[in-house]
Amino acid sequence: MSKPINRRDFLKSAGVLAAASALPVSMVELVFADSTQNFTFAYISDSHLQHIKGAKFVNNWDRGLIRAVAETNLLTPKPDFIVYGGDLAQLGKKEELDHGAEILSALRGNKVYCVMGEHDYYLDLGQYWEKLFGPQYYSFDHKGVHFVVLNSILTHDEWTYRRWPTAEQRMLEMAGLDNPNGSPFMVGDKQREWLKNDLDKIDKATPVVVLSHSPLQKIFKNWNFWTDDAEQVQALLRPFNKVTVLYGHVHQIQYNQIGNISFNAVMSTAWPWPYPSTYAQAEQYLPKLTVPMNRADPFFERDATGWQFINMSNGNIDMHYDLFSNTSRTVAFNTKTGEPEDTAFQSADQRIPPQTHY
Ligand SMILES: [Fe+2]
Ligand SMILES: [Fe+2]
Repeated sequence: MSKPINRRDFLKSAGVLAAASALPVSMVELVFADSTQNFTFAYISDSHLQHIKGAKFVNNWDRGLIRAVAETNLLTPKPDFIVYGGDLAQLGKKEELDHGAEILSALRGNKVYCVMGEHDYYLDLGQYWEKLFGPQYYSFDHKGVHFVVLNSILTHDEWTYRRWPTAEQRMLEMAGLDNPNGSPFMVGDKQREWLKNDLDKIDKATPVVVLSHSPLQKIFKNWNFWTDDAEQVQALLRPFNKVTVLYGHVHQIQYNQIGNISFNAVMSTAWPWPYPSTYAQAEQYLPKLTVPMNRADPFFERDATGWQFINMSNGNIDMHYDLFSNTSRTVAFNTKTGEPEDTAFQSADQRIPPQTHY
């Protein structure tokens, strides 16, 4: 007959539970309530590779992507996969997309998931991109987390199909940051219908990570730091316990929390956009939680360019921003406040001020 287990033996044989008993209750629930495993992935975005002629490309943009790929290859442990966040090309040309695919092929043995950017799309509406990288929107599951990739840079059919005499002109009009001839980005009815069906099949306790190019929130319309149907997309994500949206396009560190949804932007490998608030005509357009990065100024591009290393921890995202020529930053989800937070940001008086633009 076996001896009855006393409390001491039980604690000894159940080391995990013993450790858990020392944690706050909410933490224990997180650890035991879901089957999500922790893992890491990397995120590279907005390289804007620009073809000149023949085999010539703008060297500076090439160098940014090559450097990000080389640094990502050095990560230990190796990330489970890598996301490329869109705007691989500058003007959607085959030469640019081929060149980008070749540079990305140097990523060692890791699966790369690609997101469509407006600079990849508006020449041939994503046809050649699809041949190289696959569907424009899709979902996949990884270690208990549901990932959704959206093409969030679509716009009105009238603008896309009828307004411009040539595909080249359409591309150029959408490529300008503050061009009044551009058009607001959207996910659109068809894709939102697909998203709804995709999410209907997912248990609401499953952490969801959405990868989009434009922010799925409304920040600054004049620069298309914006998605016109953001609220409708957010409504589809609302029933889930943990949702994170990761987006490119803005070429700067931003983070925010809207209800159950955390938002994190990623940097560009090519150049930073200044924060809209540094422009005289813009008042304050910045997601409410964001502490600005140091000198996001296109004239000092390496200060605020780089790539990201991401820790997926209990279904929440910790973003590590690896800057090429500046102090790296970490924006981690704070489980107590329920918001992403940078606890070691550069205080305003230590930052190199951005230039004032008039
Ligand atoms: Fe971009
Ligand atoms: Fe973009």
